[in-house]
Amino acid sequence: MIQNTGYRILAIDTSCDETSVAVTESTKVISNVIWSQASLHAKWGGVVPSLAKREHEERIDWVINKALGTRHKALVGIDAVAVTVGPGLAIALEVGINKAKGICKNNNLPFIPVNHIEGHLLSPLATSKNSLHTIHQSQITFPTLGIVTSGGHTEIIFIKNIGDYKIIAQTADDALGESLDKAARLLGFGYPGGEILEKIAKEGGSDIYDLPIPMLGREKEMYFSYSGLKTALVRLINTLDEKGKELSKKDIANLAASYQNVAFIHFIRMLDYILKVNNYNVKTILAGGGVMANVTLRKIIRKTAQKYNIKILFPFSKKLYGDNAAMIGIAANYKYERGEIIKPEDLDKIDRIPRAKVDKPFVWE
Ligand code: KG4
Ligand code: ZN
Repeated sequence: MIQNTGYRILAIDTSCDETSVAVTESTKVISNVIWSQASLHAKWGGVVPSLAKREHEERIDWVINKALGTRHKALVGIDAVAVTVGPGLAIALEVGINKAKGICKNNNLPFIPVNHIEGHLLSPLATSKNSLHTIHQSQITFPTLGIVTSGGHTEIIFIKNIGDYKIIAQTADDALGESLDKAARLLGFGYPGGEILEKIAKEGGSDIYDLPIPMLGREKEMYFSYSGLKTALVRLINTLDEKGKELSKKDIANLAASYQNVAFIHFIRMLDYILKVNNYNVKTILAGGGVMANVTLRKIIRKTAQKYNIKILFPFSKKLYGDNAAMIGIAANYKYERGEIIKPEDLDKIDRIPRAKVDKPFVWE
């Protein structure tokens, strides 16, 4: 069972193209400020690391002050500073890490390095600042299954306990969000495309175009593969082009709906396989990450969980799906409880870990 001991944490995430800072207390989100750089990167069709770094540097102090509110002068009541050290873009991660180190040194506060995927994984535990209790205290029994679907990751994770993870299925190539983004770009929707693809797919029929379901019948191999689906879409668009067919709005919506449908079927077939076998004897699922904001995906995941009588928890607000620092603060709370903190005098060894894995401890030389 989860206890609410209530560390107040200033959390920072600069892992990709959002500059985010939050204040959390145990699992409560006191503030969660997100400065999105999406429009800056849109014209390049994806995140440009050097631009991301510069924007993080320019924005971070403003975002920190906004998250701290009136407390900012003396960091009133803050017990520790947490920051994402990986996975993510190296030069972007560095901005948050250096800022967190500076605050810890100047204020003699403990530093908590957090894995970004652990943040997404625990984001369903977040509670609103007005809630009287952590609803999850009575709702979660471990072991639990975790699902993270984001722009860079598609992972199903066995959670033996908070802090004790094993990735049991992951992608061999593109992540689900990346795959939706690529399809959106091919269909002319711009970047990032997952959300707009969802909107346009609602206007189309998901069974109009025949796209191949990846890894069909091979779910027991336990990995996702999305790159072939994107290639199939490229081929389909080319074939329609060769026929001299001008794609109408309706055609585009049908393509979007068909693509999204197959991408989700692939995901759900794997989840169904894992729950059917249920080697891990889980009774609850925690699901987070940017792509979970998709209503259709949540609906089919919920249905699959219900089929096996498994409870599922999603984050309570839209802000907690995509990249945000509150989820980092929540993961850090449990790390603090376990004593996984770095003292100010040991900070020099801490560095970014761009390819950090959620089931491997951080290692610094
Ligand atoms: O978690 P996130 O903000 O960043 C990473 O850690 O990668 O996830 C971003 C991904 C992008 O691929 C974006 O297109 C996708 O989440 N996404 C969505 C939706 N909203 C964001 N995908 C499908 N439907 C949505 N509504
Ligand atoms: Zn993320």
